[in-house]
Amino acid sequence: MILVVGGAGYIGSHLVKELVEKEDVVVLDNLSTGHREAVDKRAIFVKGDLGNEEDLQMVFRSYPIKAVMHFAAYSLVGESVIDPLKYYENNVASTLTLLKVMIKFKVKNFIFSSTAATYGIPDVKLIDEESKTAPINPYGQSKLMVEQMLADFSKSYGLNYVVLRYFNAAGAHHSAAIGESHDPETHLIPIILQQLLGTREKISVFGSDYDTEDGTCIRDYIHVTDLAHAHILALEALLSGEKSAETYNLGNGLGYSVKEVIETCERVTGIKANVEMTDRRAGDPARLVASSNKIFTELGWKAERHLEKIIADAWKWHQNQLY
Ligand code: UFG
Repeated sequence: MILVVGGAGYIGSHLVKELVEKEDVVVLDNLSTGHREAVDKRAIFVKGDLGNEEDLQMVFRSYPIKAVMHFAAYSLVGESVIDPLKYYENNVASTLTLLKVMIKFKVKNFIFSSTAATYGIPDVKLIDEESKTAPINPYGQSKLMVEQMLADFSKSYGLNYVVLRYFNAAGAHHSAAIGESHDPETHLIPIILQQLLGTREKISVFGSDYDTEDGTCIRDYIHVTDLAHAHILALEALLSGEKSAETYNLGNGLGYSVKEVIETCERVTGIKANVEMTDRRAGDPARLVASSNKIFTELGWKAERHLEKIIADAWKWHQNQLY
């Protein structure tokens, strides 16, 4: 059985939907930002807190867990600057509690959701796993701290892990049964689609004077279903013993500017967007694009869904948003 912590959240729920096809799954989520309706009915759901040792022990005592996937983190860069305590407490301290209980129950396999924010402001065009990690905000820092703990725990306690550094997760399940639903929403693609649906007045483009082709920031958007598939390959590699301590980037290897994303949304939906140019948002690097060659070479994963498909699936979800 696989324990998915944070399995009611955006990325976790998409992973669970794929994983239940192959494994028995138990989801632990406190529903602080996740949605109970997003959890596939084939998974067992336990409402509980990652930072609560009793909740965790109950789960590990009740189910024969062979691996843990951990999605239960706060992930808003801006909020992490305003309230770093919240980020270190949940993303670091609670993860430490989870790892402690795993070690106690001799559960050795761990897949960790990390982020491109660990790289800070990169000095290369295509970021690979050897690129320098230098986070510029507490969110990225909190993820990097856990990565460092994992490296030490692997050496000292024989913990096997795969760290997956996501670039910009986007899109929704092709069935439109689950999708992205944050409150407040801060991510570019849902914000554009909300505006196109008429539930938001305008789209603010944060900065048009960056050193990029059209002056707006470039990001590497990755379909949430592609992310889910990468987790399943990582899990198989851990369970088979093929991998024991690895870090992989997950991106498309293609960068799209904010303007290009807006244009693609207009093309996919056939609706014209209401856009205003505003000042830069603090802490936004001009360009974040991944090389995902390592995971392609080692596990055979590559992103199969590109920007149009990401937007088309997200659009279907937003038109019929269920939660
Ligand atoms: N943007 C706008 N207007 C908006 C929202 C976003 O112009 O209303 C721009 C941002 O400035 C950025 C791009 O659109 O250039 C993408 O912004 P998102 O907020 O969608 O995503 P980020 O790149 O800021 O953040 C993502 C993840 C974080 C992760 C980060 C890594 O959501 O969890 O990538 O840098 F930390």
